[in-house]
Amino acid sequence: LTGAITIDPGYKNSGSCKSEITFLDGELGILRYRGYSIEELAESADFLEVSYLLIFGELPTTEQLEKFENDIKKHSLVNEEMKSIIDGFPKTAHPMGVLSSLTSALTAFNPKSVNVDNEKEMYEAICKTIAKFLVIATWTYRKSMGYPLNYYDNTQGYVENFMQLMFKLPTQPYKASEVVINALDKLFILHADHEQNCSTSTVRMVGSSHAGLFASISAGVSALWGPLHGGANQAVLEMLEEINKDGGDTDKFLAKAKDKNDPFRLMGFGHRVYKNFDPRAKIIKKAANEVLGTLGVEDPVLEIAKKLEKAALEDEYFKARNLYPNVDFYSGIIYRALGIPTDMFTVMFAIGRLPGWIAQWKEMRENKEPIGRPRQVYTGHPLREYKSKK
Ligand code: SDX
Repeated sequence: LTGAITIDPGYKNSGSCKSEITFLDGELGILRYRGYSIEELAESADFLEVSYLLIFGELPTTEQLEKFENDIKKHSLVNEEMKSIIDGFPKTAHPMGVLSSLTSALTAFNPKSVNVDNEKEMYEAICKTIAKFLVIATWTYRKSMGYPLNYYDNTQGYVENFMQLMFKLPTQPYKASEVVINALDKLFILHADHEQNCSTSTVRMVGSSHAGLFASISAGVSALWGPLHGGANQAVLEMLEEINKDGGDTDKFLAKAKDKNDPFRLMGFGHRVYKNFDPRAKIIKKAANEVLGTLGVEDPVLEIAKKLEKAALEDEYFKARNLYPNVDFYSGIIYRALGIPTDMFTVMFAIGRLPGWIAQWKEMRENKEPIGRPRQVYTGHPLREYKSKK
């Protein structure tokens, strides 16, 4: 079977499906959700509204959005027995590993498999996933801090709940500022979907065997964790902090990134599809200046990031390879200004990407896509006779 099969490592030149959800143009740096530009959505929409758009295909009316938000609240209580699962993890466990495990564990408490052809069942599974994923995502942080686990507050909105779930302590009242809520809305919208990236393709692949939605999302969390993918936002901050500690010598790190003998890569730079500016990076860079300015946060790594970006954009090696800042380059700087710890940055990406994963999983099942099962070119031993070596 060598003639008929063409190998395409990393699927750089292969399409896996047809989709109506997200449109990317890598040459022009265009990103649209269901036909709406990312610039307009990031500027004027809110995260649940965009989640509804991605999953159901149209922007919600006021009534539809209110119903969606209320139906999510109906499922915001996580089974108390899930706490004994999280108690089994060491405090030092990486939040993405805990999140992937807890998401898969939700299957144990929601064993009824979803009949995707039953609209009501599908809708309920979607609301359940959106509600419970947010709660367990914040539990990973609370656990690492030794804090009591918080409950969703049905009197508050989804993004407000993220902040109170993360930071509210029993000893004092908590209210996140409008600046923080608006910044998070924008960041979650910018991360909400991105066609067939590594983690979304994983969610589709796992779901193609008709595994459940929680199991498929859990696999997506694991794929997103890698530093070449969503884990890059954490790796960017670690890189910027290292440059800062090293006296801010960005040229030295640029040289390392170009040295073929050095495995170091400029994290937050380059992209499989964008061979121009990642439109999300442009919006996040602007938001970083605004949020840090409004909050009065002076973060030396923001200046280092700008210096590194300028140097890389003028560098022949990077220009020859069309390497530009991507969504992960500036996002961590905002997260840090909002008080979110570095090892939670990729969890932030997962919370934003959740509606995209759900939308793509739903489309894959509605389109009755076949089980994913690629072929290979065999390069191992030819037939040989068994002779024990014992
Ligand atoms: C995300 O797919 C998506 O849509 C992902 C995402 C989403 O929303 O889901 O946009 C989110 O994952 C953004 C990317 C975050 N990752 C990083 O920032 C990690 C650093 N970037 C690289 O590792 C890399 O650019 C990738 C993984 C993003 C893309 O890798 P490709 O498409 O496989 O490209 P490649 O590794 O083949 O690189 C092409 C060339 C190589 O040099 P040559 O062998 O041609 O000489 O460019 C070089 C690479 O060495 N290169 C880099 C580089 N990225 C690519 N060199 C230095 N620093 C880098 N960051």
